[in-house]
Amino acid sequence: MQPEFTLEQYDEAANFIRSRTRHQPVIGLVLGSGLGPLAGQIEQATLIPYGEIPHFPISTVASHAGRLVIGMLSGVCVCAMQGRFHFYEGYSMGQVTLPIRVMARLGIKTIILTNAAGGVNPDFEVGDLMVMDDHINFLGMAGQNPLMGPNLETFGPRFPAMNRTYTRHLRQLADAVATEQAIPLRHGVYLGLSGPFFETPAEIRMARILGADAVGMSTVNEALVARHAELEVLAISTITNRCIDVLDSDTEPTHEEVMEAGKVIVPRLTKLMLGLLEKLGKKF
Ligand code: HPA
Repeated sequence: MQPEFTLEQYDEAANFIRSRTRHQPVIGLVLGSGLGPLAGQIEQATLIPYGEIPHFPISTVASHAGRLVIGMLSGVCVCAMQGRFHFYEGYSMGQVTLPIRVMARLGIKTIILTNAAGGVNPDFEVGDLMVMDDHINFLGMAGQNPLMGPNLETFGPRFPAMNRTYTRHLRQLADAVATEQAIPLRHGVYLGLSGPFFETPAEIRMARILGADAVGMSTVNEALVARHAELEVLAISTITNRCIDVLDSDTEPTHEEVMEAGKVIVPRLTKLMLGLLEKLGKKF
């Protein structure tokens, strides 16, 4: 069995990106559903549509712009994904996580992942930001994950440990910035599901029993590959809706609701992100 992508293919993509920008990004940023407008803050930006980058799939979710935005944010050189690839779109796990490995080959050392998520914890409200302390990788545990198949040793070991996926000092830094800027910040466990369907009430009650605070359709595979490559990882969920855990409720979650909530959340997330990058920038 061949690896889905070879090291040469990851490098072809990375070299193409290098040829298109004078920037040397040190931090990767993945912007989730409804959060793409944050990339509008990036200065001296180089824009590269995914379709132009060798081996990159093309994002099919209408609300995702589908391009890399490389430039300066809060004085730090970042490579932002405006739109990500989801497993539910029909991409393979290797395709979903290809950009993370390409960014690693580009030389980034830290990745900040963001997502839209449903609130399972009854204390959570729409608009909350949640630092992912940990995740439950439902699909991964069932054998659907990007580390299956031959291991590329250049990235990391065959049996990577996942108990320290979300880097402690980054989670603490998020707290410090949130306190300084008076942004309420939650912490919790994210349960990664495939989607594209929203969950049944019984599934939400199950998620709660399992210790999940939020559920979503992305992020865990990217975190897995990032950790495998020994990148430092920070992940922030934006709570766009409260999950419904009772039968026959009058309402149901919709993608429109998720996008609407994003509009409210983007300014708050932007403030947190700018504060974080300013502090992180002192390292580089
Ligand atoms: N469930 C799964 N994924 C989501 C949700 C949800 O309720 N909201 C945003 N992404």
